[in-house]
Amino acid sequence: MLMPLQDSTVDIDRCFARPPQEDQVPTLVRPKPSLALRHGRSGGGAFVSAAELIAAALALGAREVTGWSPAEAMLSRSASKVPAGRLAELRRAIDAGEDPLGDAFCRLRSPAQRRTQGATYTPAAVVAAMLDMAEANQPPERIVDPGTGSGRFVVAAGRRFPKARLLGIELDPLAALVARAHLAAAGMAERSEVCVADFCRTPLPDARRTLFLGNPPYVRHHDLTAEAKHWLSTTALSLGLRASRLAGLHLHFLLAIASQAAPGDRGVLIMADQWLDVNYGRLARELLLGPLGVHSIKIIEPTVAAFADAQTTAAIVRFEVGTVPTHVELARVAQLDELASPIASVRLRREQLAAASRWSPLSRPAVRRPAGFVELGEVCRVSRGQATGANQVWIEGAGGVDLPARFLFPCVTRARELFALSGALDDSSTLRRVVDLPGELDLLDKVEREQVERFLRTARAAGVAEGYLARHRKAWWSVGLLPPAPLLATYMARRPPAFVRNRVAARNLNIAHGIYPRQPLSEAALEALRIALTQAGSQHVGRIYAGGLTKFEPREMQRLLVPRPE
Ligand SMILES: C[S@@+](CC[C@H](N)C(=O)[O-])C[C@H]1O[C@@H](n2cnc3c(N)ncnc32)[C@H](O)[C@@H]1O
Repeated sequence: MLMPLQDSTVDIDRCFARPPQEDQVPTLVRPKPSLALRHGRSGGGAFVSAAELIAAALALGAREVTGWSPAEAMLSRSASKVPAGRLAELRRAIDAGEDPLGDAFCRLRSPAQRRTQGATYTPAAVVAAMLDMAEANQPPERIVDPGTGSGRFVVAAGRRFPKARLLGIELDPLAALVARAHLAAAGMAERSEVCVADFCRTPLPDARRTLFLGNPPYVRHHDLTAEAKHWLSTTALSLGLRASRLAGLHLHFLLAIASQAAPGDRGVLIMADQWLDVNYGRLARELLLGPLGVHSIKIIEPTVAAFADAQTTAAIVRFEVGTVPTHVELARVAQLDELASPIASVRLRREQLAAASRWSPLSRPAVRRPAGFVELGEVCRVSRGQATGANQVWIEGAGGVDLPARFLFPCVTRARELFALSGALDDSSTLRRVVDLPGELDLLDKVEREQVERFLRTARAAGVAEGYLARHRKAWWSVGLLPPAPLLATYMARRPPAFVRNRVAARNLNIAHGIYPRQPLSEAALEALRIALTQAGSQHVGRIYAGGLTKFEPREMQRLLVPRPE
């Protein structure tokens, strides 16, 4: 049996969702089977409390699966009764490939509660496609599902590979209990083990041909402990790699897999996809190109709502430990049905990937640069506007502010102010004003100084001086607006960016980028640039997030192609 390295003490309170209020109690209506399978909503919606879910899990044989933990034993004390007829219904649904217990779990715990644990469960269609990707000449001897949840992967893999041993590792005892019941009801108890533990700290017993299969939890680094970050950097160092403290929990999982996997092991994992392009994702890219031996990456287009209850974008990686493939296949999947055979894919040499700091652009067919065009960055610098850290204080309110007018700057403070214009900002009177005080207050005359001191006393009383940005400025009271940019651009919306000529020298906060020509440009050249950018921005993509949110970081905007100014 598998022993976690350290005591995985679990806060039992976290395991119980507040029972839904009467008007929230889900009805017994069952969706049509096809839809239920696709997004994993099945008859489990009828559970109204965790106590009932626990009772059902126990009655389905949860205890028969190896690895029963004290935390689960504690949970099982609160089991209530299983309503008559429910068990047969649950067994039927599980036999049909549904996950009624997992669905019940997801309904009892709100998406917000689950988000803190990175608990976004995978729809059946994605699990099935990933199993297709996992097929190989020799079937795996063991399946490891890191962050098992309700056991969707491990049960589906158990059906596909009837001889494999099944190991699920899950931190949340209620989810683990559900996974046990799922395995038992699917007739796999004898070859299964579920361990309630932190996957990153759990040594795996030796086995041959392990398939790592699953959906590691996405938890942002802000919510990880200093100890976890220390583990990441020391473990990465032991493999000769450097890790960023900004890495999310899914990268910790990838590292834990890489540090325990052996040649002959394989993996198919679905993960939030930022690691493809951001600095902290370098660890994942190096692990995949190095010890893990990545063969293919399928990027699920953000327009595909892959997960029923989370706005997230994902990539599926397939690797074979110990191999050094000469090429890696990168594919973009625009519809879930395309997962099995993507329409758009490219084969890239390993060296190309090793040399690139961002991988997702490589997955698109190369855009030919038309003659006479250059990247915007050659002509202009793009800067994000200034963040104030406390808009309620630094943006003048409706009642005005008692400060000298020379410290109040008309400023674009909302993206919609740019969207509302047709290409040019000619009137600053509609804009709100932002307070930007000099860093050196001793140079003010007595009257101004008193006005400013009065204002700052109020700001300090509101706690503004202790804010993160204020503490990191040279003088906490000096917002430091950037000089007016001749062109302004929105950069995050569910529509292409708006590019606007700034003919009134307005400033901009960080809801817009300022575009600063490297050499002075004539009025005509600026207007031509604006038109070209508007066209390029609507064709070219920045980063698209789920739900169609498009985002251009300054450097991404600098890559837009525009005609040479001359
Ligand atoms: C993205 S969910 C995937 C669940 C399930 N495998 C699926 O795909 O439907 C990740 C799971 O990892 C669990 N988890 C979070 N942190 C963990 C840790 N340190 N060790 C083990 N499991 C963890 C969460 O409770 C959650 O159930």
